[in-house]
Amino acid sequence: MKKDSLYFNPLNQVSDFVFDEQVADVFEDMINRSVPGYRNIISGIGVLSRQYAQENSMCYDLGCSLGASTLVMRQCIDKSGVSIVSVDNSEAMVRRCGENIKKNDAGIPVEVICEDIQNIKIKNASVVVLNFVLQFITPERRCDLLKNIYDGMNANGILILSEKIAFKNSEEKKLMVDTHHAFKKLQGYSDLEISQKRTALENVLIPETLKEHKQRLRQVGFCEVSPWFQCFNFISLVAVKK
Ligand SMILES: C[S@@+](CC[C@H](N)C(=O)[O-])C[C@H]1O[C@@H](n2cnc3c(N)ncnc32)[C@H](O)[C@@H]1O
Repeated sequence: MKKDSLYFNPLNQVSDFVFDEQVADVFEDMINRSVPGYRNIISGIGVLSRQYAQENSMCYDLGCSLGASTLVMRQCIDKSGVSIVSVDNSEAMVRRCGENIKKNDAGIPVEVICEDIQNIKIKNASVVVLNFVLQFITPERRCDLLKNIYDGMNANGILILSEKIAFKNSEEKKLMVDTHHAFKKLQGYSDLEISQKRTALENVLIPETLKEHKQRLRQVGFCEVSPWFQCFNFISLVAVKK
């Protein structure tokens, strides 16, 4: 795994964060050292997908990056006739994802598509994963994306939604943000790296509160929405379509 040192040196100007070749190259290290509990979330996606994947249905990994969720679904799902569609609009990510999937030649067929997830028609879906991806979609478009997902899902299918979240209460916000920074420092990132990355993400990653996420999921039709994982300001929800 290549070490992420993209923000190690002082930059004259910090540009907006993009999922390009440089990021894709170090992404595994970056996400593991930046998202507390990331490995546990990936394992949890394996457990949930094994439980909820339906025979002869589709599973979607939307914003798949290097394919961590795709690979764990492929490893854990034991139903027949399942296939996985993995989508990302970063060519650098899609190419690496395809290579990772080839290396792991397990049974379930996987189609990797380079496309904006907002243009993907979801069909016959029993499991849909949005693992730290909705936060990169313009807030005004999030509802349409979730509605498209909901409409393409089968009854008793699930959406797994993981996000970095915001807090309205200023004390709670400070506690979570400070603790996340302490986590990153313990992972070996310097104050400069943390601050330059924060600037790069400022206009790109727009977090919302847990309440806003729950409200929107209910608005598009999900009746059961349960948080199943939280570590500081990172959360994962499971939403069931009845
Ligand atoms: C934080 S990463 C997701 C990590 C990945 N799901 C995982 O579990 O390892 C966000 C990914 O979403 C992709 N992405 C962001 N907006 C997208 C869009 N509109 N359509 C497709 N992919 C998108 C990015 O290219 C990036 O690979």
